[in-house]
Amino acid sequence: MVTISICVGSSCHLKGAYDIIHQCERLIEELGLKSQVELRGTFCLGRCTEDGVTVVVDDEVLSGVSPENFRGIFESKVLPRIQEGSRERH
Ligand code: FES
Repeated sequence: MVTISICVGSSCHLKGAYDIIHQCERLIEELGLKSQVELRGTFCLGRCTEDGVTVVVDDEVLSGVSPENFRGIFESKVLPRIQEGSRERH
């Protein structure tokens, strides 16, 4: 199980946090990952001064996430963790 926490503090909200949440929901649906990804909103993570939204994937804090680059981040940061997790179980 991979946990994705998306900051919905006011600064990240203005930079498109809700757009990113919706995109994430769609991707999870599209890729059939519902049982493997937990999506949460989180309060300010103290990185408001960075460009873009703050997203935490398990314990990795990523800054600078935007609705434009989110898909790429999902593919490079989330999918490998899911694959790793399923390898460990086998
Ligand atoms: S509002 Fe997102 S890091 Fe502060």
